[in-house]
Amino acid sequence: MTNTVTLLGLESSCDDTAAAVVRHTPGSAPEILSSVVAGQTALHADFGGVVPEIAARAHTEKLDICVEEALLQADMRLSDLDGIAVTAGPGLIGGVVAGVMCAKGLAAGSGLPLIGVNHLAGHALTPRLTDQVRFPYLILLVSGGHCQFLIAKGPDSFTRLGGTIDDAPGEAFDKTAKLLGLPQPGGPAVEQEARAGDPKRFRFPRPLLDRPGCDMSFSGLKTALLRQRDSLVAEHGGLHRADRTDLCAGFQAAIADVLAEKSRRALLEYIHLSPQAPTLAVAGGVAANMTIRHALETICEEEGAMFLAPPLALCTDNAAMIAWAGIERFRAGGRDDMSLQARPRWPLDQKAPAMLGSGKKGAKA
Ligand code: KG4
Ligand code: ZN
Repeated sequence: MTNTVTLLGLESSCDDTAAAVVRHTPGSAPEILSSVVAGQTALHADFGGVVPEIAARAHTEKLDICVEEALLQADMRLSDLDGIAVTAGPGLIGGVVAGVMCAKGLAAGSGLPLIGVNHLAGHALTPRLTDQVRFPYLILLVSGGHCQFLIAKGPDSFTRLGGTIDDAPGEAFDKTAKLLGLPQPGGPAVEQEARAGDPKRFRFPRPLLDRPGCDMSFSGLKTALLRQRDSLVAEHGGLHRADRTDLCAGFQAAIADVLAEKSRRALLEYIHLSPQAPTLAVAGGVAANMTIRHALETICEEEGAMFLAPPLALCTDNAAMIAWAGIERFRAGGRDDMSLQARPRWPLDQKAPAMLGSGKKGAKA
């Protein structure tokens, strides 16, 4: 008997419907046999953000199609699997319910075990899927709804060192894009504009750098950007192309500086606790940003830590990370039954005090 585990993963907590098949044999690297992602960008484009009701309906329509496609690409049937892993929270509740219901149906029909997965654990465990990183490592989880530093000590053991007290950086990117008339999701659009811009022309604030610790704040940045935009419009009667690219570059530089400096502090705190082979990994959609990646890489070089960033397709929401987090839970004996609940809130570190603020995914986990 090989002890190989193969799981189907389902993800539907925000605006991507995804299904994937991942196989793992102890002693070898996990294999992503398929990873299907159906995005909903076009459906939400007219609204300047994710509309929960529209997202939930689209997930309901797309989940079974994604599952069929993932099984087809992996050349597998349900009977070849060892279980079904599904995001059970945190997230937009309608979408999470759609995923959990689909997974329950598949598990009931096939007799396979059901494994509920925390979406944030999916992101946080991705460095083990891609690079087989050993515990404990430091992870910066930075997405549209979340921003926190965690020490990952085991598949179900995380200590939070700090996080945002208001907006998540992805949310700030999305709002900035909206203020400048750029498409959603804002992160890639702002990054693209910033490439042609001068990051020094506008000096945006670096919130909370003057305070000790790893907590962050990003909501003031969009207000600063709004003021700057309005004063440019009042001066010139509109925005020139260079104004927009410079605003994007200045805004992105501010986010990168804050994340880099707070990462340095988190690294020092974590290295103090676990000095062997320190590693900072980054995960979540904002980890796709090259300026931010380079800033974090530099900090790691300076502090003697290894820097790890997953491939772009595994930074943003996907189901391979859910299947992998499911495999980690499954190996530890984790199973759920038909009473598995969809949870809008589900902090990874249950002992840490709740964060303030609420983002597009609801209250910060
Ligand atoms: O992890 P993710 O796919 O979904 C959440 O769990 O939130 O992250 C999506 C977020 C969006 O806010 C998007 O604007 C941001 O990640 N994002 C980026 C980039 N690509 C995606 N932000 C900055 N630069 C990027 N290149
Ligand atoms: Zn996510």
